[in-house]
Amino acid sequence: MKICRAKDYKELSRKAANLIRAQVVMKPDCILGLATGSSPVGTYEKLVEWYKKGDIDFSRVSTINLDEYRGLTPDNDQSYRYFMNIHLFDHVNIDKSRTSVPDGLEPDAEKACRDYDAIIEKSGGVDLQLLGLGHNGHIGFNEPSDEFPCGTHCVDLTPSTINANKRFFASEADVPRQAYTMGIRSIMLAKKIVVVVSGKDKAEILQKVVCGPITPQVPASVLQLHPDVTIVADEEALSCM
Ligand code: F6R
Repeated sequence: MKICRAKDYKELSRKAANLIRAQVVMKPDCILGLATGSSPVGTYEKLVEWYKKGDIDFSRVSTINLDEYRGLTPDNDQSYRYFMNIHLFDHVNIDKSRTSVPDGLEPDAEKACRDYDAIIEKSGGVDLQLLGLGHNGHIGFNEPSDEFPCGTHCVDLTPSTINANKRFFASEADVPRQAYTMGIRSIMLAKKIVVVVSGKDKAEILQKVVCGPITPQVPASVLQLHPDVTIVADEEALSCM
């Protein structure tokens, strides 16, 4: 694992965006695996800024998002499809038909997961996967458990994740209790992985992810086994290391 140190969130976002820009320059028709949440917002802001200056071209890029809440419509302002539209897709020259997010409205969970795995498989593989890190070590919505889940699956969100995500909703009761998420195997198959981690509240879990034992109880610890992971973290997030 490589650690790329940043002074603060602004610098972290610029560094992560630079890694994505390098990927798009080297392979204009690349497949980007994308994340939502607060950590990558600054990264997307930088990419939009560079796009407007003519410094990055998304016209041949395809994207596959990690996860989506079950039961939210794409136009619900808390859905991850909506998040991607407002933070990135609506502001750059990406062909939206090449952007994939799990179908949160598919009531048949098995079908939703099967369909998403087929999309991932058909893409030929993610070139660069961007990840955030949950307070309990989750990546995507792969919550701590007794095993590493392989493919896309439907998860019951843990109280810790519901609590962390309630800030985006009117109340905790409004946070969906389930989500569809890409599995750990699919994440690990990405050629390159970039994890953005910011803030003191992530310092303890980041230390466990990087230096602790590899265990499904800390899902992101599996990244120690991946040959090309860059953790872009700010000083606060690195304060326990
Ligand atoms: C979102 C996702 C989640 C978040 C994680 C951290 O697509 O996959 O794993 O990356 O919950 O969220 P923030 O960045 O809001 O702390």
